[in-house]
Amino acid sequence: MGRSGCGKTTLLRIMAGLVPPTAGHVEIGGRALWHQETVDSSVIRRLGVVFQDSNLFPWYNIEDNIALPLRLRGVKKKERRDRVRELAELVGLENFLPNYPRELSGGMRQRVAIARALSDNPELLLMDEPFGALDALTREKMNMEIQRIALATRATVVFVTHDIDEAVALGDRVVHLTPRPGRIKDVVDVPLARPRGLEIKKDAAFHGLVGNLHTSLNEEDDHES
Ligand SMILES: Nc1ncnc2c1ncn2[C@@H]1O[C@H](COP(=O)(O)OP(=O)(O)OP(=O)(O)O)[C@@H](O)[C@H]1O
Ligand SMILES: [Mg+2]
Repeated sequence: MGRSGCGKTTLLRIMAGLVPPTAGHVEIGGRALWHQETVDSSVIRRLGVVFQDSNLFPWYNIEDNIALPLRLRGVKKKERRDRVRELAELVGLENFLPNYPRELSGGMRQRVAIARALSDNPELLLMDEPFGALDALTREKMNMEIQRIALATRATVVFVTHDIDEAVALGDRVVHLTPRPGRIKDVVDVPLARPRGLEIKKDAAFHGLVGNLHTSLNEEDDHES
């Protein structure tokens, strides 16, 4: 979590193997992701990525969009079909497999992107403001969905957001990033029980944590002035 321009996307892109770090190193499951400027593809295979825009292929239907990483990996057609069905059920889109992306709402398209990112059973799911473009109600619903999916797949999720409420509602740990240079200012543990429902936003402990993070954000402004 951090304000616009603090480096959240940059950090996530480094973790996803899309941009080499200028300093430091990334380890996933104890293995180095970067060797100088090249990525270790065996490490890349252990992660899935979802961006703000679902990036679906408009000329493929939902089934083929979800199946694409499996096809690229050479998984046989029958196995691919079974896995896609399972993933579509997980994200609640089993009735939309023959449809095309343009026939789906923004929230549904993001669920397709999540299913696709999960196709190879990643240990780590990287998400960059995946629901930023959705209306507030759909976004809350999707947040509950992602919690359910994370619990079902047992994947570790790194979720980028600039929304403090969202960070506390979803996270086990909230990392507060600050800009220029991108630095970790604070790491806040969120000891709220799971599964968490929408009613968590009425919880006093929830408000306490949100308040602490607000204070931390405001301190940033004090330093700048
Ligand atoms: N390829 C690049 N080359 C140079 N500077 C970049 C590059 N990409 C991003 N930046 C700069 O790095 C900083 C962090 O950008 P980044 O996109 O990571 O922020 P962010 O925290 O994701 O912001 P937002 O919440 O708006 O998405 C910004 O100052 C941006 O201008
Ligand atoms: Mg960003």
